[in-house]
Amino acid sequence: MGKLDRFSDKKILVVGDVMLDRYWWGDVTRISPEAPVPVVRITNDTFAAGGAANVAANIAGLGATPILIGIVGDDPEAKELSTALEKQSVSSSFLSSSGTRSTIVKTRIVAHGQHVVRVDREMITPLSENEQAAITDVFSSHIDSADALLISDYNKGLLTGNLLSDLIALAKDRDIPVFADPKGLDYSKYAGATMITPNRREAIEACSLNEGGDDVVELAGKMLLDSAGVENVLITQGEKGMTLFRRSGHPFHLQATAVETYDVTGAGDTVIATLTVARSSDFTLEQSSALANIAAGHVVQQVGTSIIYRDELEKLFAESLDDQTSEIALTFAV
Ligand SMILES: Nc1ncnc2c1ncn2[C@@H]1O[C@H](COP(=O)(O)OP(=O)(O)OP(=O)(O)O)[C@@H](O)[C@H]1O
Ligand SMILES: [Mg+2]
Repeated sequence: MGKLDRFSDKKILVVGDVMLDRYWWGDVTRISPEAPVPVVRITNDTFAAGGAANVAANIAGLGATPILIGIVGDDPEAKELSTALEKQSVSSSFLSSSGTRSTIVKTRIVAHGQHVVRVDREMITPLSENEQAAITDVFSSHIDSADALLISDYNKGLLTGNLLSDLIALAKDRDIPVFADPKGLDYSKYAGATMITPNRREAIEACSLNEGGDDVVELAGKMLLDSAGVENVLITQGEKGMTLFRRSGHPFHLQATAVETYDVTGAGDTVIATLTVARSSDFTLEQSSALANIAAGHVVQQVGTSIIYRDELEKLFAESLDDQTSEIALTFAV
């Protein structure tokens, strides 16, 4: 029996901005006669779950069950998103469909393997009262059986301050831990959360600090603990790893594990998904962060995927436990 088998009976409510990641692959044979731009002839198109939908896909990859709550339009892209989710064993049936919105789509045009341009279609308007009520309804019908609430905020209008405080209060009433990947400048909207996971730039901006040396991360972590009303802060730092700030004790730093990276997008999604599933499975915050760190280190080395699977994590975990001097072995020894 694997040490991560206990992930499998966990149910995680994922609320956030869902989107469709679309890729148009092609080649360039000429410059347009209409403007000095290349003409890309599309030879293939692929799509994948993005934003909160990618977080949910990571949770399913880890063997837990995500209940994905968010809003899409009534359009072909919503169907593509459902198809992408289905492939990752995530149900799209808890998503709300709005007749007045369009599904958020990020289209990457890739010619000869080179990313040429990205085209975004998004409508960043706050939810209407009816839309908000629909989200709260689905949420309320699942909260009693959930092990954790994960908020995946991409600042696309779903998570109004209003909705956030309602959802966090409902979770806290039931002693359900809340993990939020934050956006914006005012993190007090996540007050009550167990943990927020900004990256370095986001944390620095939210604290109105200037980009500087390594101590700026330490300063930001402490400031967020003081001002945001959250219990813990995990600041991810790309190739420099991540640092956990708790109410008591020194900052706990984890070195990045990846040596060579191919695609770092989506690493933050893997971090919050792994952290939430691990913490819900009774690993400590430190152990859960260490697992999230190896999971993210693995996905950034993969070409064409930003999802961690439980078997892969189990293997990496076992290997690092074998090396008694590894950070994860040390984290699990205490
Ligand atoms: N270049 C890298 N080298 C090694 N590890 C990396 C690298 N980039 C990311 N990671 C791993 O992924 C984690 C999260 O990365 P990062 O801090 O870039 O998050 P992020 O900016 O939220 O990512 P994104 O928003 O692109 O999903 C890091 O803490 C680290 O473990
Ligand atoms: Mg991020």
